[in-house]
Amino acid sequence: MKVLAQVYDVADEDIDHLTAGLRDLLARRRFLTLGEHVERFEQAFAAQHGELLATATSSGTSALEAILNALDVRGGEVIVPANTFAATAFAVLHAGARPVFADIGTDLTLDPDDAARRVTRHTRAVVTVHIGGLISPGTLELAELCRDRGIPLVEDAAHAHGSTLHGRTAGTFGTAAAFSFFSTKVITTGEGGMVLTADPHLHEAVRVLRDQGKSGGGNHHEVVGSNWRLTEMQAMLGLTQVRRLPGFVARRREIAERYRTKLAGVPGLEVVPAPDGAAPNFYKLIALVDGVEPEVLRAELRAQHDVALGGYVYEVPLHQQPVLRHLADGPLPVAEDLCRRHICPPIYPSLTDEQLDHVVAAVDERMSSHLLGPGGA
Ligand SMILES: Cc1ncc(COP(=O)(O)O)c(C=O)c1O
Repeated sequence: MKVLAQVYDVADEDIDHLTAGLRDLLARRRFLTLGEHVERFEQAFAAQHGELLATATSSGTSALEAILNALDVRGGEVIVPANTFAATAFAVLHAGARPVFADIGTDLTLDPDDAARRVTRHTRAVVTVHIGGLISPGTLELAELCRDRGIPLVEDAAHAHGSTLHGRTAGTFGTAAAFSFFSTKVITTGEGGMVLTADPHLHEAVRVLRDQGKSGGGNHHEVVGSNWRLTEMQAMLGLTQVRRLPGFVARRREIAERYRTKLAGVPGLEVVPAPDGAAPNFYKLIALVDGVEPEVLRAELRAQHDVALGGYVYEVPLHQQPVLRHLADGPLPVAEDLCRRHICPPIYPSLTDEQLDHVVAAVDERMSSHLLGPGGA
């Protein structure tokens, strides 16, 4: 039985709907960007995420850049966790600031105490990443720290569509949140992003920056902006995906629960638990492995069982990346440890129970063979 690492989900009826919709859209011969579909996509996404103010962008990276530019972090420092996608730090650099890497806690999200230690008079923002779709309880401590110190908290919610902490969605803890609709994400538009904020001034600034700094209609530019626009075609797909989001998340949670139960007895493997109050969307299920290199396990599972593991979150922390290590300020032991020894079993709504059971049996067989010797299972 073959199990793929990642599959996006588009219902057949959505494909029919989109095909007809695309024909209509093109037949009208109007603008194909920032039109009515983008507006409807923004409204529909906001309706599922705390009724915040929403701005669709061309990517999750541009959503982050738009927020950081709107917050005017230029010339300052921005604290980011070490285990995130490079785009988080690159957005800081493109916004003209210096990323300051901080360590993470055992739930793999930014450690509030370590973040607090790294605050200086140059700190312009703290970015927390809801890794794998988990909004950590630590987010509340980060929000308090940022409130006390007068620093904006930015949520990199690229993984966190539909996730909650105590019933609250991403974007409601800090100043603004950036989502990604890249092809691997919980909902996708191929490429795309979204900014959510409750702050009308920030919202307006992000919208101006998204469209080449235009304000007041026509070609009037008061700030340096960029082309961070989303197309109508992407928004059409986004609208169908937003409608599916609750169903996708419900199925991901079921799958995560089944994995948790079934993986419980596997030697050398421990699924990272969701803390109390957190309801992740399970973009990723994260398991720590001992006694086997994740890359060895990945290769064996593929070669011997036709099972592809999901991508890591993340295998090399940012302060050890060739392009960023000149910015490192000493070791970050928890990030270094957890990045090096985790795996993410495949998880997506169309994964069947049979496929999941096959993954579990394969992982069990490989881990037992490494830890207990041949026939040890
Ligand atoms: C944590 C994180 N931040 C930012 C991004 C950037 O999003 P995008 O690929 O849509 O630019 C990603 C996407 O892959 C991500 O995983």
